[in-house]
Amino acid sequence: MSQDTDYQVEDADPEIQSLLKSVYQEYGYDFRGYALASLKHRIWQSVWQENVTAVPELEQKILREPACLERFLLILATNTTTMFRDPGFYLACRQKIVPLLRTYPFVRIWHVGCSAGQDVCSLAILLWEEGLYERTRIYATDINETILQQARSGVFPLGMIAEYARNYRQAGGRRSFSDYYTIRDNQVVFHPRLQENVIWATHNLVTDASFNEFHFILCRNVLIHFNSWLQERVCRLLHESLVRLGVLGLGSQESLPSGPWTTGYEIMDAHEKLYRKMRDAF
Ligand SMILES: C[S@@+](CC[C@H](N)C(=O)[O-])C[C@H]1O[C@@H](n2cnc3c(N)ncnc32)[C@H](O)[C@@H]1O
Repeated sequence: MSQDTDYQVEDADPEIQSLLKSVYQEYGYDFRGYALASLKHRIWQSVWQENVTAVPELEQKILREPACLERFLLILATNTTTMFRDPGFYLACRQKIVPLLRTYPFVRIWHVGCSAGQDVCSLAILLWEEGLYERTRIYATDINETILQQARSGVFPLGMIAEYARNYRQAGGRRSFSDYYTIRDNQVVFHPRLQENVIWATHNLVTDASFNEFHFILCRNVLIHFNSWLQERVCRLLHESLVRLGVLGLGSQESLPSGPWTTGYEIMDAHEKLYRKMRDAF
């Protein structure tokens, strides 16, 4: 789809079609496979933010001003996240995934759509407590470079710390959460050790290919933003990026859409949507 510049967004009005086509042709970002209702809502948010009155005006402004594109990308990113988000997921990881990861001499994890990094930092803490961090590389990727810059800093807003600590405890945290950070200038600065085994990179699920084989892939709260066509593409990509017996974690908010890949997985945790790849499905 991303090669086809005449691709049409299902049911979108012509102005939105035109905007998305221009963004793709001019800048290479292809949002035409995103779920339409939320996409429309965000496009209109951008119209208001940019002080223009309609979608065609927004299109012209984006084409004229790269800075406007950056703001548009941030609005479309839907990058809401927190530390130890949905703590039950981390609890299931400790109980069901950690024993599997222990069997590998070296562990590769792909954290897809990592947003500003809170989820990655949480995973690093869990692996540290389980004695696995030293032999793990976490490849943390997102479409949005601005968000990744924030993630690389390892610095998060102080106002969220009570929620982070509560989630940590519910996720089976073993120490005092304050062991992992210091407070500086009203911000929470996590221990730099938690960044050392993390490789941050931009990766676009719509247009980019797989780049390694992983023992564990986390892709939570990302598929929900895509239409069924794009979900299918991403499910194929994730399946192909797992080693045999590797695990895909989608989290409790999403399910594996039906498709050929489903025959390749065994369900490890039906609530937290942990799937183990038993065979190649393609
Ligand atoms: C709601 S956040 C999820 C963050 C984290 N995984 C969590 O569960 O808290 C969705 C993330 O997906 C990223 N994203 C959206 N489209 C993407 C794409 N085409 N390729 C890679 N990442 C994408 C967004 O930038 C955003 O950071």
